[in-house]
Amino acid sequence: MVFPTETVYGLGADATSKAAVAAIYAAKGRPSDNPLIVHVASLEAAVQLAASWPADAEALARAFWPGPLTLVLPRKAGACDPAAAGGTLATIAVRVPGHPVAQALLRAAGIPLAAPSANTSGRPSPTRAADARDDLGRAVAVYLDGGPTHVGLESTVVAVPARGPVEVLRLGGIPFEAIERVVGKAVVRTSAAAGETPAAPGMKYRHYAPVAPVRLLAPEALRQRYEAEPEAAFIVATETGLSGPRVRVPGSRADGAAWAHHLFAMLRDLDSARRTVIYVEAIPEAGLGAAVMDRVRKASQG
Ligand code: TXA
Ligand code: MG
Repeated sequence: MVFPTETVYGLGADATSKAAVAAIYAAKGRPSDNPLIVHVASLEAAVQLAASWPADAEALARAFWPGPLTLVLPRKAGACDPAAAGGTLATIAVRVPGHPVAQALLRAAGIPLAAPSANTSGRPSPTRAADARDDLGRAVAVYLDGGPTHVGLESTVVAVPARGPVEVLRLGGIPFEAIERVVGKAVVRTSAAAGETPAAPGMKYRHYAPVAPVRLLAPEALRQRYEAEPEAAFIVATETGLSGPRVRVPGSRADGAAWAHHLFAMLRDLDSARRTVIYVEAIPEAGLGAAVMDRVRKASQG
């Protein structure tokens, strides 16, 4: 079923069932080597799935759960095999979402739910129930509509190995700086370059892409493009001062959280309007601004 979390909508199913997890991969058209995040209602339930629970995991979980944080931990033998590439992975990705509907669902189900974002593979993650419905349609029987999601992009994925440094595998709803503050020592930020084996397998695919091409533009270049290309659409900061039917304004340049909240919905809406190209203004890469720019770059590949 499709359900809201505070980040994006998820497509959830019993993480211990091979058939249920296979149905998720089929509905999304997702490559089978890309493992799923397992969602549970509480920190205590998350600990049950891990083979070890390092002090850094405890600190991060206490600071950010329930919330937009996913921990990649050593996996307890047999825990949610279907979500961990058929049991071949030594790790498991676990998250305790804070959205009240997600919490109620997890508590009622009483089982861990494997849930990727509820989009067709390669499309922007859905931040509204209708977006998930547009992508997945009748392949999914139940949609829980909790209104627009609050954060608007996915959870921050953080690997906490039994030994060695903590590593941020995917930027997301918790800023990198906040992770570092809680860990209290240097945190690695992995960005998988082409050809490397990415630590979060999902990062190697083109992502978050609408049908119209997406291009990142420096603030200085925007106005001239706006005048030169009457069919192009624009997502720009308040300070840029553009307006009109082909312009969307998520917020100020400094307000990464507002950009995160609006980005995917705006990409989808402009895409439905069949623009030739969607230009997105480059904003400062601090706080959630870094995660926003990560998603825009991925959307603009290819
Ligand atoms: O906010 C979110 O995280 C949303 C909501 C629904 O919870 N879920 C989500 O799931 O974004 P998905 O499947 O779209 O992205 C999960 C990412 C992928 O890049 C995947 O490769 C990575 O997490 N991942 C999952 N299990 C992993 C593991 N054991 N080790 C490393 N990366 C893992
Ligand atoms: Mg996804």
